[in-house]
Amino acid sequence: MSNTHARAPRPVESERIPLKPRKVSFSWEDTPLHWVPGDPFTTHTINVLHLLLPAGERWFVHVYKQVLPYIRDDRLREDVIGFIGQEAMHSQAHDEVLPHLKEQGLDPTPYTAQVDWLFEKLLGDRTLPPGRARRWWLMERVALIAAIEHYTAFLGDWVLNAEELDRRGADPTMLDLLRWHGAEEVEHRSVAFDLFMHVDGGYARRVRTWATAFSALVFLWQRGARFFMANDPTLLDGKATFKDFHVRGRRGVLPTTGAMVRSIPRYLSRTYHPSQEGSTEQAVAYLASSPAALAAEKGGA
Ligand SMILES: [Fe+2]
Ligand SMILES: [Fe+2]
Repeated sequence: MSNTHARAPRPVESERIPLKPRKVSFSWEDTPLHWVPGDPFTTHTINVLHLLLPAGERWFVHVYKQVLPYIRDDRLREDVIGFIGQEAMHSQAHDEVLPHLKEQGLDPTPYTAQVDWLFEKLLGDRTLPPGRARRWWLMERVALIAAIEHYTAFLGDWVLNAEELDRRGADPTMLDLLRWHGAEEVEHRSVAFDLFMHVDGGYARRVRTWATAFSALVFLWQRGARFFMANDPTLLDGKATFKDFHVRGRRGVLPTTGAMVRSIPRYLSRTYHPSQEGSTEQAVAYLASSPAALAAEKGGA
């Protein structure tokens, strides 16, 4: 059985904060099409989040509701419930950007229809009989989510520190959406991995699902960036290449290729724990000053 490797590494930070969803809302009418001024490539590469996350995070919630009965630890169950609340809100917040993109001449539907199919059909519930096969598929998806959350935490930590976006005059509302979301990703970064270690934790499964998640993310991301660049009504011949990405990484407006490569062995290390990545303190400090999070708090969320 795969459970032979299920020894949970010890978290670095001992503090534990209760996870709560913040009912944020954003108004997009003042956000320009190229919200990183003069840089459609960076804008659209980050915009891919709005294509992937609505369906992706809804899928997290769907899978986690099925795994709740397998959790035998009350604290972890509480964390998973908090995680579900936060991811549901993230999914909705990114979804609300899509009509704005459409108004600006960027209809995302051809792409989002494919993403919906991927999460709802390919990664959805299969008509499996109760028993081993159904459990196998559930555990496979729990492990996939843990791998994806390694990257959401990576991106969350990156965007909290991406001061170059401020220096280049990026739209403050979009930055707040990204940093509110990124901060909550850093805040709950251990939940998916702890859950995976609790219900399965098999090392072969961790490696296999990481490879699937990583390849899918790279594939979907470059495709999404090319889709936006090709359909941007202000660009004559919009293209997205790996070189564009590499250059923006060096400039500090996207993650660097090196940082992304270095994050791979960390996730595959047997001593990995997400608490070693990012800073809870920084995430909590951002959430205490985020305009959207503060408005949500005032509104009683
Ligand atoms: Fe999220
Ligand atoms: Fe997350």
